[in-house]
Amino acid sequence: MAKKTKDDTPIGPTGRPYQGFPIPAPLKAHGPARIIALCNQKGGVGKTTTSINLAASLAEYGRKVLAVDFDPQGALSAGLGIPTHDIPTVYDLLLDTKRDAHDAIVHTGVEGLDLIPANIDLSAAEVHLVNEVARETILSRVLRQVAGEYDVILIDCQPSLGLLTVNALTAAHGVLIPLECEFFALRGVALLIETIDKVRDRLNPSIQLDGLLATMYDARTLHSREVLERVVEAFGDDVLETVIGRTVKFPDASVSGVPITEFAPEHPAAQAYLRLARELVARGAVA
Ligand SMILES: Nc1ncnc2c1ncn2[C@@H]1O[C@H](COP(=O)(O)OP(=O)(O)OP(=O)(O)O)[C@@H](O)[C@H]1O
Ligand SMILES: [Mg+2]
Repeated sequence: MAKKTKDDTPIGPTGRPYQGFPIPAPLKAHGPARIIALCNQKGGVGKTTTSINLAASLAEYGRKVLAVDFDPQGALSAGLGIPTHDIPTVYDLLLDTKRDAHDAIVHTGVEGLDLIPANIDLSAAEVHLVNEVARETILSRVLRQVAGEYDVILIDCQPSLGLLTVNALTAAHGVLIPLECEFFALRGVALLIETIDKVRDRLNPSIQLDGLLATMYDARTLHSREVLERVVEAFGDDVLETVIGRTVKFPDASVSGVPITEFAPEHPAAQAYLRLARELVARGAVA
């Protein structure tokens, strides 16, 4: 943050004056949840890492958070240290909507953060659901059962724009799009926005774009800075001010099955996710 405005405020990486965002006031009561889908059909852009660490950060600010693993790879469940064989998962809830969604909720090691896990079973869901009536609204109906008990529900989508992702977008109030600061970052984003627009037209008129989050940013490389500049040019204030730096602490924390906010709370990357949580509260995307 070398650059400064005229009145000496540092400029953040997105070119706007750097703000810290206030610590969110405690909530007096919990729920109903605002549902946010973390979505990008491009693989490996930080959807799961953001789901884990944003969820933990919001929980740290006293929000009741439910994270929903919606990827058959089960990386969100693994990243939160939850083994997923032989327990009810989101797949069971999708296939039998009469089943109580509470059956599949597990408490994580982070206070205030619960999880609906997923495992490889979920890979069969698209095939099973394709002939269902109102097949796009199944997740929405599942989450309705538990939304009253949480302040925010984060859905970690798989890297595809198939029926599962459409279910997530139909259930969601908002979408958060993580983008890796790499050359092809913007490739595919137009198609994703088009998909969100279609879902808004046909299934979920009130869905909002909560923001684009730049991840794996390396301020030392011209390349990272140029990519971020292009993203800001294309999406303006929809690009969140908080930018997540590239660091090996994330892979390390995932392997230990804990969020970075617990693994290395003082690390700048943990601080970045806490700031993202504060920014989303400040923007009104989270209570
Ligand atoms: N800021 C970061 N710095 C360094 N590595 C990161 C960062 N964020 C994520 N990673 C690593 O990059 C890889 C991909 O991240 P992640 O799994 O969060 O992406 P994803 O979008 O969920 O991937 P997929 O599309 O496969 O679900 C992981 O190994 C993760 O640990
Ligand atoms: Mg993932």
